[in-house]
Amino acid sequence: MTKTILATGGAGYIGSHICYELLAAGYQVVVLDDFSNSSAESIKRVARLTNGAPVLIKGDVRDAAILDHVFSENRIDAVIHLAGVKAVGESVQNPQKYYDINVSGSVNLFGSMQRHGVSNVVFSSSATVYGIPEISPLTEDMPANPLNPYGQTKLMVENILRDMTAANPHWRSLLLRYFNPVGAHASGQIGEDPNGIPDNLFPYIAMVANKKQPKLNVFGDDYDTADGTCIRDYIHVVDLARGHVKAVDYLLSDRATDNSAEMVNLGTDQGSSVFQVLKAWEAACGFEIPYRIAPRRAGDAPAYYADSRRAKALLGWQAEYDLARMCADHWHWQSKNPDGYGK
Ligand code: NAD
Ligand code: UD1
Repeated sequence: MTKTILATGGAGYIGSHICYELLAAGYQVVVLDDFSNSSAESIKRVARLTNGAPVLIKGDVRDAAILDHVFSENRIDAVIHLAGVKAVGESVQNPQKYYDINVSGSVNLFGSMQRHGVSNVVFSSSATVYGIPEISPLTEDMPANPLNPYGQTKLMVENILRDMTAANPHWRSLLLRYFNPVGAHASGQIGEDPNGIPDNLFPYIAMVANKKQPKLNVFGDDYDTADGTCIRDYIHVVDLARGHVKAVDYLLSDRATDNSAEMVNLGTDQGSSVFQVLKAWEAACGFEIPYRIAPRRAGDAPAYYADSRRAKALLGWQAEYDLARMCADHWHWQSKNPDGYGK
């Protein structure tokens, strides 16, 4: 029988790619999203691309009545919980918003799952929980030390979910720690659509490539790395989305055990510097991306990348796409949709 997955925040950047991959893999999908950082257009496009019929419900994960409605109207086999806010700087300015949406929203969701006997959940966590690591690659057992309220909310929800999974009969959970998701679906129909001027490297370069910003500010070229710029583990959003299909396959199989909550890194296990990213973007666009060296950004770690061996062993997943493909697909989406979904 077809299994049904609830994706909270499923209309967003990562969620829309997950919905595509779930539908392509034969799952039915229900999306709950308040559209505070997305629009229904992404899911309409996913439906067109897959010939699927995802169910789309507008609502806030902090609203218990909406959640109870979603779980009583749909037989949900597993939840992928993406809904939340994610801007590090804003979380420092307005921590209450972050604890409310990310933590209270999650507690509310897990409470509704309990009431409706839904016991499988995948949570969108982040490599940001590792703070500023001194060595790489990062394995899941390395200490967590988030440096800002956003990172704190991710770690808190991991801990809450671990406790709830241990306490509730048949609960199984996966806490997926994403490294730096970038890129877009190969169709160029869905992709990242940030509000205003983005803080993150790929969407910022995309704006420069689209002549919406004059140049990229490279935040520091005096780090102790080969070319002086920071190193991150960028992962294609399609690889990341496929990791979620594997995660759900796993939770619903007899490979998973009840009351287990596993932390799993999703990265490529390779680091790329800001200058390497810039070069790869120039190759993808076929023209130069203007840049200037700017001061270091507060709170930036010099370098880190994942060890994703656990994802391979547990889920049978590993990333396939390289940096060239990430840039090509990101640019394909952004050049076809310079105003995103046009909201
Ligand atoms: P996104 O903003 O595109 O998606 C989040 C979605 O959640 C949006 O569609 C938004 O409208 C929705 N949402 C926000 N608050 C809500 C609420 N109260 N109720 C219902 N829906 C709500 O972000 P994304 O990049 O797709 O990230 C998805 C998840 O992955 C987030 O939890 C984020 O913290 C996590 N994550 C993202 C990254 C990244 O770099 N993008 C890295 C690590 C982890
Ligand atoms: C940031 C968040 C992290 C989140 C991740 C999602 C911080 C401190 N961390 O990580 O919580 O999970 O995004 O992808 O914000 N850079 C520039 N110029 C720019 C933008 C970025 O040089 O205009 C550099 C940064 O200094 C960094 C690299 O590019 O070295 C990547 O930056 P970014 O895309 O913001 O990701 P992170 O900082 O790794």
